[in-house]
Amino acid sequence: MSAAPSSKHEYSIACMPADGIGPEVIGAGVEVLKTMSEASGGAFKFHFEDYDWSSETYKKLGKYIPDGGLERLKKHDAIFFGAVGAPDIPDHISLWGLRLAICQPLQQYANVRPTKILRGTESPLRKAKTGDLDWVIIRENSEGEYAGQGGRSHQGQPWETSTEVSIFTRHCVERLMRFAFEIAQKRARKRITVVTKSNAQRNGMVMWDEIAAHVAKEFPDVEMDKMLVDAMTCRMVLQPNSIDTIVATNLHADILSDLAAALAGSIGIAPTSNLDPTRQHPSMFEPIHGSAFDITGKGVANPIGTFWTAAEMLRWLGEETAADKLMECIEEVCGDGILTRDLGGTAGTKEVTEAVCEAVRKSYGSSK
Ligand code: NAI
Ligand code: MG
Repeated sequence: MSAAPSSKHEYSIACMPADGIGPEVIGAGVEVLKTMSEASGGAFKFHFEDYDWSSETYKKLGKYIPDGGLERLKKHDAIFFGAVGAPDIPDHISLWGLRLAICQPLQQYANVRPTKILRGTESPLRKAKTGDLDWVIIRENSEGEYAGQGGRSHQGQPWETSTEVSIFTRHCVERLMRFAFEIAQKRARKRITVVTKSNAQRNGMVMWDEIAAHVAKEFPDVEMDKMLVDAMTCRMVLQPNSIDTIVATNLHADILSDLAAALAGSIGIAPTSNLDPTRQHPSMFEPIHGSAFDITGKGVANPIGTFWTAAEMLRWLGEETAADKLMECIEEVCGDGILTRDLGGTAGTKEVTEAVCEAVRKSYGSSK
């Protein structure tokens, strides 16, 4: 697969909290990562560099990314991102101005979204319990429905016309498909579901199916099945246990992964990694949720999605043991019932963060 991660155990991380609850959850995430580094006796270290690019920057400068910004970002080992979006800026401006403006040029073409029901939390699915829902969704992150192709003519006229063209290239679908099969192969159940809509969308989606069948031949130990995206939503709700790895287009996987997060209990717990599997450029790690204006500044945002994101970042950087430890600490705290409101608890961001930091210290045997 990708080149081996660095063996230096010292990582330069670009911190970009951006908007809404972004600063609250990224602040909590940095605190946990610093605690881990200290508690491990410096077995791994982080150098955090703060980037204040946000919707405020856009309002001041007319752009989210200052000139030369992408070049600065490239020198880091990873990007730890909050969320972008403000009530007084159209969402397509903020998304394309910052998040997609980083993902696309840095070739973070694989978006990886694991989901499971954490200990101590509940799924809205009546019968599902911890272990019944353990998925990873691989989302094409560089083209497809979000390629940005299209336009608008005759604005404001009754005959106004708009096009939103999906772009699927063999190169991009094949590299993503191979990456997804590699992930499936490493998981215990070695199962992959290829999601398309190749009945109604008879060009790009049919090519997806063909590429999947072709790549599948390289992975005889991975069991593949195919599903139309609409049917997949039913299967996720009715037979969660039958699913392991899912691979889908930019749009389809975007929607399926929000459904996955909700089925696991809350959008507040889910992580996402925007990976450049070639490791030529830094990858970007973020909680799946957005800037959540309705709870910004109230101290109630669930930081678990960001902690899980931090664990995914550690894993990508090569710190597997630390990643497993952090996941165990997160589940311990959830299992102890220290939960934010979105998970039915009463704890605030700060209490959950302190509890996870304490669990981390204990886990390294350095409890105060
Ligand atoms: P959202 O994820 O911000 O919020 C949806 C609901 O989930 C809200 O009720 C919110 O309070 C709740 N929620 C989200 N994160 C939570 C957390 N950590 N703890 C507890 N509750 C949480 O999605 P929404 O409302 O559709 O979008 C708000 C803004 O965020 C928009 O501007 C949107 O474009 C942007 N956005 C940005 C994303 C990104 O930066 N990757 C992803 C999704 C949305
Ligand atoms: Mg989304």
